[in-house]
Amino acid sequence: MKTIFSGVQPTGTVTIGNYIGAIKQFTELQEEYDCRFCIVDQHAITVQQDPDELTKTIRSLAAIYIASGINPEKSTLFIQSEVPAHAQAGWMMQCISYIGELERMTQFKDKSDGKEGVSAALLTYPPLMAADILIYNTNVVPVGEDQKQHVELTRDLAERFNKRYGEVLTIPEIRIPKIGARIKSLQDPLKKMSKSDPNQKGTIRILDTPNEIEKKIKSAVTDSDGFVKFDETNKPGVSNLLTIESAMSGVSIADLEAKYEGLGYGAFKAGVAEAIIGHLAPVQERYTELLHSSELDVHLDRGAEKANTIASATLKKMESAMGIGRRR
Ligand code: AQP
Repeated sequence: MKTIFSGVQPTGTVTIGNYIGAIKQFTELQEEYDCRFCIVDQHAITVQQDPDELTKTIRSLAAIYIASGINPEKSTLFIQSEVPAHAQAGWMMQCISYIGELERMTQFKDKSDGKEGVSAALLTYPPLMAADILIYNTNVVPVGEDQKQHVELTRDLAERFNKRYGEVLTIPEIRIPKIGARIKSLQDPLKKMSKSDPNQKGTIRILDTPNEIEKKIKSAVTDSDGFVKFDETNKPGVSNLLTIESAMSGVSIADLEAKYEGLGYGAFKAGVAEAIIGHLAPVQERYTELLHSSELDVHLDRGAEKANTIASATLKKMESAMGIGRRR
């Protein structure tokens, strides 16, 4: 069975962007692949986090994964900081990365732009992400489009490592969803929807109430044309809402265009909100059951144990290939 690795940062409540671009595809892939899904808390601290809030968000994200359909009996679900091989292999990946290539990463440029006191870790985030993927001998990495550049760097680093030290690492392939690879902000449809966006009206979070979802969709930026058609260049707001409804309802974009033909944006937005609310209702119900249950800890403990076994075996091979420590 081929293997999958992917992760989500506990940097705030998951948006429908994270859900459609990543988590929803994880649930679809777990039947076909041996999957490892991670809560990448070490990535979250590349920007300053409130410690109590971070601890709560980590637990909440674990509950969201399972409530969304990740089966922890089948897939390995765990917290990155509970598997020390990530940081150890991350250091090795930093040692073979060039500052120039890290400075060219779009996410580094966006997150550091105009900021004072940017952490060194924001720059070295991609080698840690490469380690996350490579220590599980990953074949496929399902992510949203914003992570494409980081997965390409992961491939480059793995090839560089293998060329210098021998064939140790598996070169992973990227997998980007056909619909919803880049869900946009509801307030600025040229910008991606982000967990850490301070504009609350731009993001729909997976735990938002029906009322909040209706309000946010109602105030979503569209255009003055008054007709529903998918055209990302000329109608980015409408196209974003069509993408969201299609991902949430499973109805194709062409069928949605037909459904709203002759109707105005009022009816369109009501339909989009209804699709989101209907899709998220069972996820939210299961989330509430899981959040304070001991079941969650049992899954996370078991996940950490399984992940540690696989990751430490690859780490040993990497250390031996590089010549660090004692060869035994
Ligand atoms: N808008 C999006 N559309 C589709 N996919 C998205 N992803 C993120 N935003 C969108 C995908 O979600 C997964 C988890 O993302 P992450 O937590 O690792 O960090 P990120 O990509 O930086 O996402 P955010 O929401 O923008 O987080 P913050 O605000 O903390 O930086 C990834 O697979 C990502 O592609």
